[in-house]
Amino acid sequence: MTALSTGLARTVTRPKRLAGEIRVPGDKSISHRAILHNLIARGSARVENLGPGDDIGSSLSCARALGAEVVELGNGAVIIRAPESGLIEPEDVLDAGNSGTTTRLLTGILASQPFFTTVTGDASLRSRPMERIIGPLRKMGAIAYARGHDEYLPMAIRGGDLHGIDYALPAASAQVKSCLLLAGAMADGTTQIHEPAASRDHTERLLRAQGAHISVDGLDISIEGRVPLHTVDVVVPGDTSSAAFWVVAACVHPDAHIVVRGVGLTEGRTGLFDVLIAMGADLKITNGRIEGGEDVGDVTAQTSVLHGVHVGGELIPRLIDEVPVLAIAAACAQGDTVISDAQELRYKESDRIAVVATELNKIGARIEEQPAGMVIHGGRGLPGGTANSHGDHRMAMALAIAGLLSDEPVSVQRPECVSVSYPGFWTDLARIAAS
Ligand code: S3P
Repeated sequence: MTALSTGLARTVTRPKRLAGEIRVPGDKSISHRAILHNLIARGSARVENLGPGDDIGSSLSCARALGAEVVELGNGAVIIRAPESGLIEPEDVLDAGNSGTTTRLLTGILASQPFFTTVTGDASLRSRPMERIIGPLRKMGAIAYARGHDEYLPMAIRGGDLHGIDYALPAASAQVKSCLLLAGAMADGTTQIHEPAASRDHTERLLRAQGAHISVDGLDISIEGRVPLHTVDVVVPGDTSSAAFWVVAACVHPDAHIVVRGVGLTEGRTGLFDVLIAMGADLKITNGRIEGGEDVGDVTAQTSVLHGVHVGGELIPRLIDEVPVLAIAAACAQGDTVISDAQELRYKESDRIAVVATELNKIGARIEEQPAGMVIHGGRGLPGGTANSHGDHRMAMALAIAGLLSDEPVSVQRPECVSVSYPGFWTDLARIAAS
């Protein structure tokens, strides 16, 4: 067996061959938006291929607590209907679990609602920064407070009349941008946002599909407030960030050929694929098409010879969630890879600069941590050993991929957190390693 579970850890061993076809779960970012955007419109919406992870469960339970009807039809199909007379004040604290996207986007909606809400989450989410949304929402007229000088959950919001602002984001963040666009859609006047670098634009696409007056000019976005929005049916593409694990595994393993079907390929998400190609990867995109307003295609990856590269600047927001698995590709490549301008990684489900460096070094990588990135010395492959996910789903999956590629097995401590975005991960891993 390739992934041996001891209850506390899972041990992954390199198989002779990695091959097969995979359909990854529905995209987490788009699934959150498919739920939350339909809370600010009247009528029913149907969502297909909704992501199955715990984070999406958090958005669904918050939607229910705000009075929305959610009917789960099975196989990822869901009907969402906000109350006819508007969202209602929840009776209890909203629990966003591990989900930063639920918290930030939902707060953008709550800021305009005429009632009181409190939001909290698990220990990881309670250590992530929230002033980045509270500051600009206050400028729009919202009343919001949070623990630790407005930095940490729990957070309390009394929504009300908002007005548009002109705001330059200090860091590229799709979550902050989306929070302000959702608030701006319900504010008086126009809200203008300026990004320092382009981040994923799923919110802009969905708002446009809902009838919002939104315009995008390079890094400048503006939305007119109080334009009535309609519900939107969404067919969610396969999660680009989940596909990334199998693509890296196939590129590095000495005998591999993997096809990931129906993957979201929107430009704001495909930075890892661009970097792998620059590293020498044999990647092919076929069957490219538009589905539900998003670019979708099949990604084929196979055994490749990789060399190190420099990754920084505008590429970073386009691969922000893929750095743990990119570090594995880099550790197995020839030469050094330098990742810079990535200080935002310190504010993810774990401090992904510190955790990637510490945990991959435990299994034989040579990574030097830097304030805003890391240097990964390639050329030696991965010897193997025991490493800890720190409860971060993308770390757990990256370490499992390391086990598929390392000389000796990798034991992944705290492996259960993959359920945050990809509950079927261990089953898919066993399948492609068995062929
Ligand atoms: C997300 C945006 C990114 C990403 C997160 C999901 C989104 O966060 O890391 O996993 O769905 O908008 P930031 O926008 O804060 O960088």
